[in-house]
Amino acid sequence: MAEGKKILLGICGSIAAYKSILLTRLLLKAGAEVKVVMTPSAKDFVTPLSISTISKNEVLSDLSRNDVWNNHVQLGRWADVMLIAPLSCNTLAKMANGICDNLLLATYLSAVCPVVVAPAMDEDMWLHPSTKANIGKLQAFGNRVIPVEKGELASGLYGDGRMAEPEQIISFLEMNFFFNGELKGQKALVTAGPTHEPLDPVRYIGNHSTGKMGVALARELAQRGAEVELVMGPSQIEIHDPRIRVTRVHSAGEMYNACLEIFPSTRIAVMSAAVADYTPVSFSPEKIKKNSETFTLELSRTKDILRALGEKKKAGQILVGFALENTDETSYARQKLESKNADMIVLNSLKDAGAGFGFDTNQVTIFEKNGAEVPYPKKTKQQVARDIVDRIIKLL
Ligand code: CTP
Repeated sequence: MAEGKKILLGICGSIAAYKSILLTRLLLKAGAEVKVVMTPSAKDFVTPLSISTISKNEVLSDLSRNDVWNNHVQLGRWADVMLIAPLSCNTLAKMANGICDNLLLATYLSAVCPVVVAPAMDEDMWLHPSTKANIGKLQAFGNRVIPVEKGELASGLYGDGRMAEPEQIISFLEMNFFFNGELKGQKALVTAGPTHEPLDPVRYIGNHSTGKMGVALARELAQRGAEVELVMGPSQIEIHDPRIRVTRVHSAGEMYNACLEIFPSTRIAVMSAAVADYTPVSFSPEKIKKNSETFTLELSRTKDILRALGEKKKAGQILVGFALENTDETSYARQKLESKNADMIVLNSLKDAGAGFGFDTNQVTIFEKNGAEVPYPKKTKQQVARDIVDRIIKLL
């Protein structure tokens, strides 16, 4: 959880600097305050204007400006962590040898906080003995190195040297510096996204769920130390978090099978997916043609995953469901708690603006088996996830 943490982000001249924009955005989203220092050549790859707009702070690059000295000592003391991402081969070599010819290097040399680097370079450069030796030197100084990834490189070649994805960098920071391990050793199952019920090879019945709430929950549980199994229906969201194992499914039936297999080994299960309640009775292997004026579809009930897990729940397991209602919200939420043998129901009221599918915000009320009913104001989905996980931890 990067809430309230001060991150000093150093950006070097590298093609991977484009990822710094997303990295900055995600750090802010995770609750951190971000100040950015760029090397002069980083500005050839990403503009200070973009970065300052995203970070909501002035971007610094020169040792002095308008005859005023930029205080690198203060910057290094301000930060909880200095993160250099991407770290170019050139800056790496300078850091390893105490060279101080720009503001980023001066800040690095005067930083008293932990320093983390995410290198990015071509594979041949990465494998060069001088690079290896420089990385070794940084590690000997106590700096942490986020391993490079294998993949397509700026040269067009394929190999080692890609900078880790922004999400991976953030989870590295969270795991190593901002870790709050209340759920260490616990396994959690989360469902997310919509389901698609196939009609024929080109059509399906679906819904507007994006998976954002479930992914926020998976991240929050991982951040608290849980080993997370995320079973996700069709969603655009990509997960690059090593703490989250993702099983991608399409239909309610596939989601049911995946959940039933995983559930016995979990302590916590949060069913936030918008699972279809009905599925076509038959699947047409041929594309259905429009041969008549009307078309009737026969649907059958899908298996209710939450209910099935409620029936199988053992003492000590915590089961959480969601409810999306627009009438008699409280009584429906309480009924769901009973009928599905859940420990907690998170109610989204469709009457609340900014809550529900597609929004980045949500407004929920949590109902618990023990009678508790806790309303929350509108918050970001990540903050809502934090509230839900706080309540789960209380129940444990
Ligand atoms: N759920 C599930 N499997 C299903 C359907 C729903 O696990 N086949 C879960 C959802 O993930 C959510 C909760 O059940 O946690 C929602 O309950 P549900 O009874 O589906 O809500 P509604 O469809 O709104 O209920 P109803 O139409 O009965 O009011």
